[in-house]
Amino acid sequence: MEHAPSRRRVVRSVSESFSISKEGVSLWSATSKEPALPVLDKSIDSDVCVVGAGIAGMTTAYLLAREGKSVVVLDKGQIGSGETAYTTAHLSSVIDSGYCEIERLHGAKGARLVAQSHTAAIAQIESIVAEEVIDCDFERLDGYLLSSDGGSRKKFQEEWHAAKRAGLQVRQLKQSPFDLKFGPCLRFPRQAQFHPLKYLAGLARAIKRMDGRLFSGAEAKEIKGGKTATITTKRRATVSANAVVVATNTPINDRGKVYAKQEPYRTYVIGAFVPANSIPKALYWDTENPFHYVRLQRIHANGKTRDLLILGGEDHKTGQAEGIEGRFARLATWGRQHFAEIKEIAFRWSGQVMESMDDVAFIGRNPKDDPNVYIVTGDSGSGLTHGTIAGILLRDLIFGRDNPWAALYDPARKIRRAGATFPQQNPNSGGEYARWLTPGEVGTVEEIKPRMGAVIHRGSSKIAVSRDDTGRLHRCSAVCAHLGCIVSWNSTERTWDCPCHGSRFTPDGKLLNGPALGPLDRTR
Ligand code: FES
Repeated sequence: MEHAPSRRRVVRSVSESFSISKEGVSLWSATSKEPALPVLDKSIDSDVCVVGAGIAGMTTAYLLAREGKSVVVLDKGQIGSGETAYTTAHLSSVIDSGYCEIERLHGAKGARLVAQSHTAAIAQIESIVAEEVIDCDFERLDGYLLSSDGGSRKKFQEEWHAAKRAGLQVRQLKQSPFDLKFGPCLRFPRQAQFHPLKYLAGLARAIKRMDGRLFSGAEAKEIKGGKTATITTKRRATVSANAVVVATNTPINDRGKVYAKQEPYRTYVIGAFVPANSIPKALYWDTENPFHYVRLQRIHANGKTRDLLILGGEDHKTGQAEGIEGRFARLATWGRQHFAEIKEIAFRWSGQVMESMDDVAFIGRNPKDDPNVYIVTGDSGSGLTHGTIAGILLRDLIFGRDNPWAALYDPARKIRRAGATFPQQNPNSGGEYARWLTPGEVGTVEEIKPRMGAVIHRGSSKIAVSRDDTGRLHRCSAVCAHLGCIVSWNSTERTWDCPCHGSRFTPDGKLLNGPALGPLDRTR
């Protein structure tokens, strides 16, 4: 199924002249400048239309084009400008919940398929990087699961055995490596890291070389399957295709079958400079809940060579957290406790994770839809490998080939035994509809200070009111344009976030992330 990795490996470093980033801009966005895509302003056709130019959509388009399909990729923004720009770009075959839990949820065979598919995804990326000669800092390195909370030896041994049963290479070490102040750890060789936007830029060049077409300003408004699938954009352009792949992080064409099986989370990231080579390059993650995850990226900037330590964690359900500043502060404190080399913090950003109820993604035919409509969602914190798995699996499904991963990732699958921390239905969304009944968060708009937002009650309506730096008020309906939950103010990113399925909006209600298809209603 995979192409053998070529020996022509390209490993270089981010080499840019950039100053400290703007708040919320990821390292990847700050160090990748690609030409803007053209806007789609007419109707066209192709074999396959891919909606969404992130890792899943671009990999699918690339693998299909490589086998002769004509492809069109549509995105409302630029390549990778959605969640792919906000990852920390770990490429790991060890998915977040660990193999004890994966085995419990999917059985021994399912765990082996999970391990096999994520391992194959890393190999697929390595192979593409070599074949297309993509300068994206791809490198293989070890991954370490660290016990930072005094986790029991028994727990580590169980995870070690489960990972081995799943077919992964793993060693148990009594002490964490490189003088790190953690306890025992598990070492997983041949994990990897790369610069995700430079990788996508390489895929885009290859797709174009194979006559694929990519467009921005092409926000899909309506997606219909059938003998000929049609995708209509907000600018009223239409793509007609034999098949359509919706790779928009969370599907904008869900027929109510997938929302209930996943939940949106925010995760937070800081990027802190450390002296070059002071911390060995590896992927690190720990056993806390929520856990921390760490990697390094070599930077040549402004005449200096340094490493940027990228540290993520502090996850919470979207739209349900206070004190986001405190989350960044706790990340910095944890980082300094364990990595004394940390100097100034240059980046802070956050991203969205769609956590599936059984910890693996949903990839395949859209349930209750025409058979030529495919989706990918439920990244579960492994979006880059799940996105690459999607490319391989959707290519095979579109070509009508068998793929051993199809049942594991089928979006229509029954969730057999949800984890103790995850009830059978998207657990909080029912409660979130109850926010309709609660009083407003403040009594009057005068209580809303600059950079703050709050939901206020006006008659039977809920109004989302925020105040910008200049003191100007912005008002819009607090009712999410997707299925009517009440949005919450995100004080760090200054967005309105929906706790039910993760739609996000600007202070004045413009749509940032689906599954909503439109803005918050205007109000005065
Ligand atoms: Fe579904 Fe808001 S995202 S109701």
